[in-house]
Amino acid sequence: MEDIIKLRDVSVKFGETEVLKKINLEVKRGESLVVVGSSGCGKTVLLKTILGLIPVAEGDIYLFGEKINGAPKSKIMQLRSRLGMVFQSSALFDSMSVWENVGFYYLNHSDMTDEQIRTLVRDMLKEVGMESFEEFLPEQLSGGMKKRVSIARALVSKPEVIFYDEPTTGLDPIMAESITELITEMHKKFRTTDITVTHDIHLASRISDRIALIENGTIRDIGTFDDLRKNSQSPLIKSFIFTEERK
Ligand SMILES: Nc1ncnc2c1ncn2[C@@H]1O[C@H](COP(=O)(O)OP(=O)(O)OP(=O)(O)O)[C@@H](O)[C@H]1O
Ligand SMILES: [Mg+2]
Repeated sequence: MEDIIKLRDVSVKFGETEVLKKINLEVKRGESLVVVGSSGCGKTVLLKTILGLIPVAEGDIYLFGEKINGAPKSKIMQLRSRLGMVFQSSALFDSMSVWENVGFYYLNHSDMTDEQIRTLVRDMLKEVGMESFEEFLPEQLSGGMKKRVSIARALVSKPEVIFYDEPTTGLDPIMAESITELITEMHKKFRTTDITVTHDIHLASRISDRIALIENGTIRDIGTFDDLRKNSQSPLIKSFIFTEERK
């Protein structure tokens, strides 16, 4: 199957600090990859680098078979339009209603009428169970509801790849479970390739085809949940799996 994302010896630096060191990674179309690692190890930086939001210091990144580092801006924008991102903070626009947030891209970058955009947004909000909240402002929503809206916003343009950065962090267990369900459902329904950063072992075990563990800026272990359970010597993976098995 096609490698939809490929990283070749990718390093990222902030000043003198090398946050990612020669990362090699391939993600196949339709795969669900989960990225784990301790706080500050570079998970969000990895997602943003693949999205082209952070420049690479060394190495190459390929999206859909095309190299993005060094490519013209128009090419990067075109490739990026095939990706969607659910940010760690939800990152909704505070002054805009739910429907304007979800329709933001179309309201600003298309010739569609407001009514056409409304219909598209309404259908997407139905998918995530938020159709009754079209006129609400983000401040009127709970954390879990904001997550649903930001998932709708990422999915409305029908991206081929979707990045979720800690989608269940800060939610109560029931809300976390319903977001886990939603991610699973959306993955099946829209056949997206998913890359999900999480500290939530239950989410990881449910959605992952493979799990990548980042440590000291490199991928220390990568494999299925079972591979890692059997073979990983990482204390983080051991405690992670121990927690899941005790449930
Ligand atoms: N724009 C930036 N400028 C300078 N340093 C940065 C920048 N973004 C991230 N870093 C540094 O890179 C490292 C990795 O950050 P990152 O946000 O990727 O961590 P993380 O693995 O996502 O952690 P968490 O699980 O807490 O979200 C941190 O040391 C952080 O301080
Ligand atoms: Mg992060």
